[in-house]
Amino acid sequence: MPDPPRTVLRMDDQAEDGVTTATAPLVDSFGRVHSDLRISLTDRCSLRCTYCMPEQGNVWLSRDSILTSDEVVAVARVAADAGVTKVRLTGGEPLLRADLADLVRGIAALRSDGRPLEVTLTTNGIGLADRIDELVAAGLSRLNISIDSVRRDRFTALTKRDRLADVLAGIRAAAASGLRPLKLNAVAMRDVNDDELVDLVQLALDVDAEMRFIEQMPLDVGHAWDRSTMLTRDEILSALRARWDLTPVPGRGGSPAERWWLDGGPRTVGVIASVTAPFCGTCNRLRLTADGQLRSCLFGHDELSVIEALRGSSDSSQRDAGVDAVLRACVAGKRAGHGIDDLSFVQPTRGMNAIGG
Ligand code: 5AD
Ligand code: SF4
Repeated sequence: MPDPPRTVLRMDDQAEDGVTTATAPLVDSFGRVHSDLRISLTDRCSLRCTYCMPEQGNVWLSRDSILTSDEVVAVARVAADAGVTKVRLTGGEPLLRADLADLVRGIAALRSDGRPLEVTLTTNGIGLADRIDELVAAGLSRLNISIDSVRRDRFTALTKRDRLADVLAGIRAAAASGLRPLKLNAVAMRDVNDDELVDLVQLALDVDAEMRFIEQMPLDVGHAWDRSTMLTRDEILSALRARWDLTPVPGRGGSPAERWWLDGGPRTVGVIASVTAPFCGTCNRLRLTADGQLRSCLFGHDELSVIEALRGSSDSSQRDAGVDAVLRACVAGKRAGHGIDDLSFVQPTRGMNAIGG
């Protein structure tokens, strides 16, 4: 393998929020500054959500193709040097990684004066109750927990596993940990959970969390997505307006979620309308797959190999320069938007579980 190009270290570059970066910030050709890195730690999961993966017949990534915790931390270090201020650990289900707390500790240790670094987790909550204390001690900043239904039979039909009680235990443990803001995510689906949006918000209110509804995206392994079963942002809002008065929370920034005060606040609800109201114009996110491929978009088809850079050299400064070069190439090639609404849109081959939410 040829030597990766060396990057010139400049200590005076300013990233998005005035953070001093050790290398130049990750700015794409549209001027978007990339400060958010989402890392999928495994493609495996303890659930089989119908919109994500089939119940049987999944082909998993081979174990030796999955990044080790040291490799993940090495990528996070180079990314933090380039102005990444938020690392989100996702899956599949990240709690299936036995080394999750080590990983969190390793990334949290990259924080230093003038360099804020949030380490967050997106999880289905199963097994969280037993692990939350070690994750908090390791330096976890906060978490998002997915829950699409609070009805046991429906939850089981949706996820193919009778685990609602475990998820609720995880949510309660997260609430008790004191990490805030705590967010609960639900994919809103017609004739599946559209009659319990109010109940889901109520659950979030009960545990001092924010409920966020996500429009279903074409990211299922089985490629069975159908726009007609997706509940739109406007439909979600009208279902909630039957119960609460909603007023927009100002200051969205680059966040995927639009938020509303419930009955004037202070409690809120969020909607992530990736399909009907895309937010590509402010996208500041990069995604690393569990097998070490870097993507600039959930819906793109291009991936650049970080794992080659990581495993191609035993010299750590050369390795870091290689990872840095891949980050920059990925950002440089980022397109303006995902184009789900274009007739020419082709769903990515990998499912959400392999890309990372
Ligand atoms: N559309 C929308 N959200 C999805 N998620 C997984 N697959 C999809 C999809 N096709 C959500 C999960 C979880 C987060 C990681 O992404 O429910 O909340
Ligand atoms: Fe697992 Fe998340 Fe996919 Fe559900 S959506 S099967 S919880 S990875």
